[in-house]
Amino acid sequence: MILVVGGAGFVGSHVVNLLLEKGPVVVYDNLSTGHRGAVDERAIFIEGELSDQQRLTQIFTLFPVHAVIHFAASDSVNEAMGNPEYYYENNVGGTLALLKVMRACRVKNIMLSSAVMASSEKNELLQGQKCMIEQMLEAYTKAYDMNGTVLRYCKSTCVQASVSGNPEAVVSESTGNQGLKNVAEVANAHVSALEALERGELAFKMYDLSAVSSKNTQQELDWQAERNVHEMIEDAWNWHENSKC
Ligand SMILES: NC(=O)c1ccc[n+]([C@@H]2O[C@H](COP(=O)([O-])OP(=O)(O)OC[C@H]3O[C@@H](n4cnc5c(N)ncnc54)[C@H](O)[C@@H]3O)[C@@H](O)[C@H]2O)c1
Repeated sequence: MILVVGGAGFVGSHVVNLLLEKGPVVVYDNLSTGHRGAVDERAIFIEGELSDQQRLTQIFTLFPVHAVIHFAASDSVNEAMGNPEYYYENNVGGTLALLKVMRACRVKNIMLSSAVMASSEKNELLQGQKCMIEQMLEAYTKAYDMNGTVLRYCKSTCVQASVSGNPEAVVSESTGNQGLKNVAEVANAHVSALEALERGELAFKMYDLSAVSSKNTQQELDWQAERNVHEMIEDAWNWHENSKC
């Protein structure tokens, strides 16, 4: 069984839909930016905080979870600048809580959805958090005999701007970004990477989906993306509009 933390969000909910074709899925999400209605009815949904170690322990005790996919993060640049304490707590602290419980409950497989952000001074805080989380994952997998995969892809800061109401400005801001993918392709890459993780072929592996020519991504995951900025933005826009209650 797969546990998807942050599975009520934009990328996570698409991955959940694909995973449900293969087997049971538990979604754990605090609905801070996600939507209950975006979670397929076939999934078991549990509302809760990533930092709640007791709740996570209950989940690992109740369900035979053998792998976790981690999407539960806060990602707004402006919010992070205004309230860095919350961002460190939610992103770094939340991930540490998850890893601690996984280690204690002997759940060995974890995949992290991580982001590469457009280079600007403002994004350093968020990019630094992403790097720290990736390093935590790598250190845990190496020290505690776990398997970890990081999937990096371009953070569409544009997507967040778009849901606040100006998709046109966003499109022009992001057209230089060749790494964005349509969300279905990104979701497929997560499923391929999970299959590799479950086959036990990886101890720790990082894939950069933005580098579409990367041989290890294509060969090991048998996955290749078409670049399409507009589709990704459109996907995000439609997802947020359709998921509103
Ligand atoms: N959307 C993109 O373009 C993109 C690109 C690269 C990487 N990513 C990464 O993928 C992940 C998900 O991104 P998204 O666009 O789907 O964002 P999103 O905001 O739609 O999804 C995040 C989900 O996590 C949940 N969440 C947040 N904090 C939580 C907590 N403390 N406890 C429980 N649940 C919590 C939210 O409610 C939401 O459902 C992020 O880590 C992001 O950096 C996204």
